[in-house]
Amino acid sequence: MGFWDFAGREPKFNHLFNDTMAIDSQSVSSMVIEKCKRVFEGLESLIDVGGGTGTMVKVIFKSFPQLKCIVFDLPHVVGDLQGTENIKYFGGDMFEAIPPADSIMLKWILHDWNDKECLKILSNCKEAISSKGKVIIIEMVMENKKEDRELTETEIFFDMQMMILVNGKERNEKEWASLVFSAGFSNYKITATLGLLSVIEVYPECYSWTSYV
Ligand SMILES: C[S@@+](CC[C@H](N)C(=O)[O-])C[C@H]1O[C@@H](n2cnc3c(N)ncnc32)[C@H](O)[C@@H]1O
Repeated sequence: MGFWDFAGREPKFNHLFNDTMAIDSQSVSSMVIEKCKRVFEGLESLIDVGGGTGTMVKVIFKSFPQLKCIVFDLPHVVGDLQGTENIKYFGGDMFEAIPPADSIMLKWILHDWNDKECLKILSNCKEAISSKGKVIIIEMVMENKKEDRELTETEIFFDMQMMILVNGKERNEKEWASLVFSAGFSNYKITATLGLLSVIEVYPECYSWTSYV
């Protein structure tokens, strides 16, 4: 049985996993707002795909109260959660279809999946946003910095965990670029200011800049 099917059948494990991810999101959301607030400026709507119990959007919403947010996740994750006027929960399968929005956030999602599965998720994201929208990926960009042994070991540890638990992987910039271009996007920009994590903004339309690692 796959990891997510198991979570769907074992409520205790489901809650433990969702609570653990919420703790991670609590610190990451504060960091994102502190260091990369501009990423969300000007957006009208945001869907957090695989957004768990909604911690990321709740924190982002505090800084952008005009933002219409949807937390999209599997029914066993969001089915019982109560939304508000601006933060709605939506149960579904990102491999089937994603509701339309200005922008989509994917935090710790693509590293759970192999390249073929990621292409399907990213293609569905591209269909859901307009040509002026963007996908905001919050994940690791493996750098393999020889001088920072601790960081390199942590990257490799995550890579192995993803391989063992969910048949996923961590990716370097070349692998990220190959994924986003294969999914039909035109450009991307990496902001690496969150320690282990980076923000990768992915655009359907071409702009003049490339990446900043
Ligand atoms: C590693 S967790 C990340 C949760 C959240 N983004 C965060 O960083 O706290 C991956 C999430 O993807 C969700 N997920 C897995 N398969 C999915 C699918 N087919 N459609 C929608 N969500 C899915 C899981 O339920 C889980 O909440």
